Amino acid sequence: MRMVDIIIKKKENKELTREEISFFVKGFTNGSIPDYQASALAMAICFNGMNKKEIGILTDEMLHSGDTIDLSSIEGKKVDKHSTGGVGDKTSLVLGPLVASCGVKLAKMSGRGLGHTGGTLDKLESIPGVTIDIEKDRFFKQVNDIGIAIVGQTGSLVPCDKKLYALRDVTGTVNSIPLIASSIMSKKLASGSDTILLDVKFGSGAFMKDLDSARELARTMVDIGDELNRDTRAILTDMNQPLGLAIGNSLEVIEAINTLNGHGPSDLVELCVSAGAIMLVQAGRVKTIEEGKELLEENINNKSALNKLCEMVEAQGGDASYIKDPSKFEKAKYIIDVKSNKDGYIKEINALEIGEAAMKLGAGRATKEDIIDFATGIVLEKKVGSKVNKGDTLCKVYSNKEHVESILLEVVESFKITNEELKTLPIIYEIVE
Ligand code: URA
Repeated sequence: MRMVDIIIKKKENKELTREEISFFVKGFTNGSIPDYQASALAMAICFNGMNKKEIGILTDEMLHSGDTIDLSSIEGKKVDKHSTGGVGDKTSLVLGPLVASCGVKLAKMSGRGLGHTGGTLDKLESIPGVTIDIEKDRFFKQVNDIGIAIVGQTGSLVPCDKKLYALRDVTGTVNSIPLIASSIMSKKLASGSDTILLDVKFGSGAFMKDLDSARELARTMVDIGDELNRDTRAILTDMNQPLGLAIGNSLEVIEAINTLNGHGPSDLVELCVSAGAIMLVQAGRVKTIEEGKELLEENINNKSALNKLCEMVEAQGGDASYIKDPSKFEKAKYIIDVKSNKDGYIKEINALEIGEAAMKLGAGRATKEDIIDFATGIVLEKKVGSKVNKGDTLCKVYSNKEHVESILLEVVESFKITNEELKTLPIIYEIVE
């Protein structure tokens, strides 16, 4: 078999066989197929797509390109969730402790952020002392003992995706439903949980720009999960503005703590409670979503979810006094009010633009080597639908650099203001199962 023939076949929009897909995945993983041929195939897939059968085979082959995790030594149902990435997305920090406080196990492997989207691991590491490098036996023991651990993904899990994703990032081939779906699902399936909930975001700050393409991606991933006998469901959620109010690592941790204290922004609360309720149904902990929501709200009110976050932070070497008293987090040197230059209603807070501005302040990485400044970022004072007058504060910028004038300009421009009165946006549009 020759790689060039496989590339030509996909270029001619023909269906690839299991043997051909397996030849590519094995050869690319072991280095016998060079990057330039893998890039050419990725580009052909971007243009011509793959059918359901090909996507299932690609996922299965990628999933078996390295180690898979066997969570059977952890008692009870293990749930997992994955977000396709957004700005201000601190959901895992709220949702994880929430579902674990209801007795459902979460053994989660997370990622770091790159570009305008932040990663859960970076946010967790902004809590002094927390480590995400935990070896397997300690990871399993922590989940058995306290019901939750959020750690970094091991290098041996889906090595094919690690190489392919890095290549796609620099060859303009990220945005393809077969490639995104197989990349996400191979990692989720290799991580060994019994159930998977996917939060597929759409809008300016997401891979999927509109509801239809988010629905197609969600359907593709749920079908892959069904095919491989894993209870997989998805929610389609809005990313036409950042989630919640805070963007930036310790700022987002503080918002997650406030949410677990019962003072979260309404979109974040709704997303966490609704997603958590689906996860409880998937785990068989409750029968209905309504019952799940009630239980989760109770565990916010009685602080058991907040206590679960403290337990997790302590188990991972962190200082839980920061969770009990978030005013201990180091503050940025400069806190600057960004004001509206006109009257009107906020139509959009472009998540891509404001996410990039936060990254430039130090809250994210432009390249993998960049070091994050945990205290920096942006906290919104207004959301889509808010009425503003000229001179009102739109948000506060947290910076350790004194001169950030050009970034402030980008922040103001990410707020799109109109004269028409607008409704607030819903957060969850659909559930796909
Ligand atoms: N996240 C992933 O893990 N893979 C993709 O292809 C896109 C987003």
